[in-house]
Amino acid sequence: MNVNGRRYRTIWLKETDHTVVQIINQLALPHAFEIIDLRSVEDVRRAIKDMYVRGAGLIGAAAAYGMYLAALEAGEGTFEADILRSAAILKNTRPTASNLAWAVDRMLIKMVPGTSVEEIRLVAQAIADEDADSCRRIGLHGAEIIKTIAAKKKGEAVNILTHCNAGWLAFVDYGSALSPLYAAHDSGVKVHVWVDETRPRNQGASLTAWELGRHGVPHDLIPDNAGGHLMQHGMVDMVITGADRVTRCGDAANKIGTYLKAVASKENNVPFYVALPSSTFDFNMRDGLKEIPIEERDAAEVRYISGKTKSGAIETVQICPDSTSARNWGFDVTPARYITGLISEQGICEASEQGILGLYPGGTRT
Ligand code: MRU
Repeated sequence: MNVNGRRYRTIWLKETDHTVVQIINQLALPHAFEIIDLRSVEDVRRAIKDMYVRGAGLIGAAAAYGMYLAALEAGEGTFEADILRSAAILKNTRPTASNLAWAVDRMLIKMVPGTSVEEIRLVAQAIADEDADSCRRIGLHGAEIIKTIAAKKKGEAVNILTHCNAGWLAFVDYGSALSPLYAAHDSGVKVHVWVDETRPRNQGASLTAWELGRHGVPHDLIPDNAGGHLMQHGMVDMVITGADRVTRCGDAANKIGTYLKAVASKENNVPFYVALPSSTFDFNMRDGLKEIPIEERDAAEVRYISGKTKSGAIETVQICPDSTSARNWGFDVTPARYITGLISEQGICEASEQGILGLYPGGTRT
């Protein structure tokens, strides 16, 4: 996507030095646009764990490049043991998004004796390229749904609510939930987005609002708890969220708070779509509530909030009494029965085993 007139992806290899991975520092957004270098597996581990990069697809691509750096770091006589250690380190960073383990495992298949580091680099590159292309195609499929709704709105904007950030910043490019919005907007369809702030890390306020603003898509930031009220008053035509893991039966893990939006959508007859690339499916799981691991993060993310002061300084402040403890689950699971449809690069299907296997015969990614 374009930033300051230049086309960017969220992750790439430095043009002048292919042993350096470069990323957009998402911790600095929306107040500053910074590129940072990752030179080791440890750098990649920290970037994923501390959320310099985040979002299912981008975490997967970062892990893939991390495994390429692992190949560069591995000792000659200890190559296999070294890369297995790096794989475990990267896999342990964040448990919920399936893209991470999927990307590491896909890299490991190629990281065998006889494969050159250059060939390993190309696999990481392919994972990143495929992520971008899948998201582009998700946009084309999803835009058709938006156009159908737009046709009934007689020139009024289609109001779409989204939660967290599943835009291009959460992937290598384009995004999952936001890709259909960009495609519809670019083709002249009037869209307006309700952006949930997404406490505690505020990915909606800091990332989704920033992305949409850069792309010129009309939007309003709303408190996380406003969606139900807007739906009751006919102010939401559809909801699109991303996903971090979707089971073969269609249960979808996504940022904490998504489930409540899905329940409110069903109650108010608002279509609720989940957009995801193939790498986010977990065909080995059926029951999302029982099986999807939910990351619990540091309570400090709930107890404190960061932002820009009136004088322009970035500061972190405590929002609860000194003695208050907090809990911080990063994700929740929306059961398939609340989901109107899944939008993947393969097309649109029902959130059910039958629907998913219709797009992915045999339960395998293409
Ligand atoms: O904790 P994050 O920011 O890595 O969470 C991931 C997300 O951005 C959301 O859950 C998103 O909606 C799905 S990932 C594309």
